[in-house]
Amino acid sequence: MQKLIGIKKKINVAVFISGNGSNFKNLIFYSLKKNSRFKIKLLISNKSNAKGLGYARKFKIKKKIINYDNIKIAEKNILIELKKSQIHLICLAGFMKILSNNLITKFKGKIINIHPSLLPKYKGLNTHQRAINNNEKYSGCTVHYVNAKLDSGKIILQKKVKILKTDTVKKLKKKILKQEHLLYPKALKKVLINL
Ligand code: GRF
Repeated sequence: MQKLIGIKKKINVAVFISGNGSNFKNLIFYSLKKNSRFKIKLLISNKSNAKGLGYARKFKIKKKIINYDNIKIAEKNILIELKKSQIHLICLAGFMKILSNNLITKFKGKIINIHPSLLPKYKGLNTHQRAINNNEKYSGCTVHYVNAKLDSGKIILQKKVKILKTDTVKKLKKKILKQEHLLYPKALKKVLINL
C-alpha cells in the first residue's frame, strides 16, 4: 500500500535468466539506488546451475527454477509465481527459452528483452560471430519489447559499438556486454515512466 501521498509505489519486476546473470546483477544494483522506481521481486531461471542464481541468494531475491521439459507446464508454473509476487514487468536477460503467445498476451507490453546486436540485424544466436563474419563496422545491443516474433518487438533503446579489425568474438562480446549494463537500466527507466 502507498504509505505517503505523492510517493509512487515501486513497480515489481521479475528477471528471467538462463546463465551468467551479469545483467541481472546490474539491474539489482540499479533497483537499490535511492530514486529507483522498481523492485526486483523474483528471479526465474530454467537452469538449476545458472551462475546468476547466486546473486538472488546474495541479495535475498526470491528465486524459482522452472523445469522446461514441457513448456505448457513450465509457463503455468511461471504464471503462478508471477501472480504470487505481484509482478508488473518482466525483464528477460539471457533467458534462452522462447515465451509462448499465451504468456506474451497475458503480459502484453510488459515484457522486455536485451539482445546483443543492433536489431533488426542479427536476430537469434551467435550474433557477434555473424557480425564479424560479415565484416560489419558496428554491432551493439538493443532493448526491445517482446512480441510473438523472435527479437522483433518495438525497440526501446540501442547502443552502437565499433567493431575493430582486431576484435575476436570474445573481445566484442565483452565490449558489448559493458554497454548492455548501461543500456538496460536506461531502457527500463524509460519503460517505467509509461507504466
Ligand atoms: C547478453 O549478451 C544478452 O544480451 C543476451 O544474453 C546475454 C546474457 O548475459 N540476451 P548475462 O547472463 O546477463 O551475463
